Amino acid sequence: MPEPIVQVRGLTKTYESGAAAARALDGVNLDVHAGEVMLLMGPSGSGKTTLISIMGCILRASSGSVRIKGREITGLKEKQLPRIRLDNIGFVFQGFNLFPTLTSSENVEIGLDLKGVRVRQRKQRARALLDSVGLSDKYDAFPADLSGGQKQRVAIARALAGDPGIILADEPTAALDSVTGRTVMDMMRKLAKDRGRAVVVVSHDGRVMEYADRVVHIEDGKILNGGTH
Ligand SMILES: Nc1ncnc2c1ncn2[C@@H]1O[C@H](COP(=O)(O)OP(=O)(O)O)[C@@H](O)[C@H]1O
Ligand SMILES: [Mg+2]
Repeated sequence: MPEPIVQVRGLTKTYESGAAAARALDGVNLDVHAGEVMLLMGPSGSGKTTLISIMGCILRASSGSVRIKGREITGLKEKQLPRIRLDNIGFVFQGFNLFPTLTSSENVEIGLDLKGVRVRQRKQRARALLDSVGLSDKYDAFPADLSGGQKQRVAIARALAGDPGIILADEPTAALDSVTGRTVMDMMRKLAKDRGRAVVVVSHDGRVMEYADRVVHIEDGKILNGGTH
């Protein structure tokens, strides 16, 4: 087995909100390998979003270890995380998180802008990505003028803009009809198989299972099976 591209060990997360502190993750161990599609399944509130947000450098852990390409990220300062994220992670948010005042193309270009890619190249890349998700006629449309499936595809194009090694998608098919859901999962699978990307998909949609190499179950912040080999 090659070194996992993401290695999670003894990860805990406690949200300090209000009077009660809630433990959302409790001793999670998980390996994700390049070239695989891993499906993370679990009931609502089981810690799925929390886990991939920490893996995606969007949220900080309370304790434990997360290594991305061998580099420990849990000890890093808050302000160091965006760089790691930009270099390694494509994150597809539950509910898209598109900027409402930006067009599809501009939404896809944002990460490239942060990376310092010039405007011409940025536009070219955004258009190629939007073409690849079947949105060639929507470059200049605003999110409000797109259907749920179209917004999701813009969100996926945005996640892929920086050509990340790790793609984390939070319920990417939840808002989609079954045909669009299949298109999205086909894309995810291609990224893993043709491009060697590591893909983690959070879902409680059983239809997603057939696209996964591995299914990991989480409940009450604990991995039930098969997080590591
Ligand atoms: N920002 C937050 N503040 C406090 N508690 C939170 C926050 N986000 C999630 N939680 C709690 O953490 C637990 C796990 O949530 P989450 O990771 O969103 O689960 P899932 O994605 O599986 O539905 C839940 O009990 C949830 O209420
Ligand atoms: Mg969630």
